[in-house]
Amino acid sequence: MAKLWGGRFQKGTDRFVEEYTESISYDSRLYPEDIEGSIAHCEMLVRQRIISEEESKKIIDALKEIKREIDESGVEIDPSYEDIHTYVESRLREKIGDVAGKLHTARSRNDQVVTDVKLYLKRSIREIMTLIEDLQRLFVKRAKEEIDTIMPGFTHLQHAQPVSLALHLLAYYEMLERDRGRFNDCLKRMDECPLGSCALAGTDFPVDRGFVAERLGFSGVTKNAMDTVSSRDFIVEFLAASAILMINLSRFCEEMVLWSSPEFGFVELSDEVCTGSSIMPQKKNPDVAELTRGKAGRVVGNLVSLLVTLKGLPLSYNRDLQEDKEPLFDTVDTVKGALRAVYLVLEGARFNKSRMREMAGEGFTEATDLADYLVRKGVPFRRAHEIVGKMVLYCIEKGKRLCDMSLDEMRSFCELVDGGVYEAIALEKVVDSRQSLGGTSRKELKRRIEEICAQRGWSL
Ligand code: ARG
Repeated sequence: MAKLWGGRFQKGTDRFVEEYTESISYDSRLYPEDIEGSIAHCEMLVRQRIISEEESKKIIDALKEIKREIDESGVEIDPSYEDIHTYVESRLREKIGDVAGKLHTARSRNDQVVTDVKLYLKRSIREIMTLIEDLQRLFVKRAKEEIDTIMPGFTHLQHAQPVSLALHLLAYYEMLERDRGRFNDCLKRMDECPLGSCALAGTDFPVDRGFVAERLGFSGVTKNAMDTVSSRDFIVEFLAASAILMINLSRFCEEMVLWSSPEFGFVELSDEVCTGSSIMPQKKNPDVAELTRGKAGRVVGNLVSLLVTLKGLPLSYNRDLQEDKEPLFDTVDTVKGALRAVYLVLEGARFNKSRMREMAGEGFTEATDLADYLVRKGVPFRRAHEIVGKMVLYCIEKGKRLCDMSLDEMRSFCELVDGGVYEAIALEKVVDSRQSLGGTSRKELKRRIEEICAQRGWSL
């Protein structure tokens, strides 16, 4: 294949070097954006009388044809094509001859590649945001179903206080809402069209950058040609938002792995998201949750990879920047996959309500409420804490729960205790008493679910 830059060279490129430097094997996925960008650029060239009507028609028709052909039979991955931009242009030359060469007037691969990636990323982010919304909606739906399910809430992975399972599930709704916000922020910041920046310094042709931006759906244009071709922080932002999302998903997956173990027994995962063992017939492994937890690592790695590539790079374009693409594409694919996977895991999860409730009563989870009860009887909180601590020690020794103590036993620790104590420390009562905004009372959880549904226009 004749190089786009062959003029000043006397020898061909070493075959190994072609393979070493190519990006077509992975940037071929940018062909729709590359062609879309070229069509907009060509329309601008003719409007500005930089090329003729006739030339532009030839170019645009051929570009559309190339798009259809690639849609059908893909890109021919040959390292001598270097990258997708070169590939499209050489196909154009095959079709219409020398006129093809006019398309690259007032453009460089440096502004072209950033345009392609931005268009691709804007589309990908929108798809990811939709997948996040689907998952959020499922979390809220499952929370609504499990509002009466009482489970132990943990701190330090030790039983802390009883909570509704809905509080736990809605926690992920909130995390995902911030994730969605981060993607939306980075979408807004990258919404400036690079075309017209050319190699690094702009162009002497009378281009209309605003026209191209509008045609491509950007809300503005970049303001400094050198910054435009040098910067990849819009990709870093996306990779960072993705890494945070994956960490949030990974925490949920870890809980599914833990909770489905017999030690917890809180959840039965659906067969559809588990696999068996080739040697142990009884095994049902939570692979989908595990793999999603594992994939968080590579998405974090992709962020670090690009950051390190950028560190210390002098302005403006350097070929190092080609290394932005594999971490980016891998992250887009992995994040989309993970969101679908977690959806399936949560959709098919059957929570074991009786086991959760039973365990909610283990580990003296009502101790805080017993202390609060004493406070209401006039005992200072520090003293009440001390008294209940002693009661807990006593119960550990006797192998019983706080609520199993007789009134006399309780009164031997504090004579202000009366018969009302049992109601005060009953699990439902304990859960429902926490009515503060964001707390676990069923009333507050229902309020929050309604608020979310109203905001989002969901009916579950
Ligand atoms: N494949 C290149 C990249 O991804 C396209 C830009 C090439 N520009 C250049 N001056 N060699 O960065």
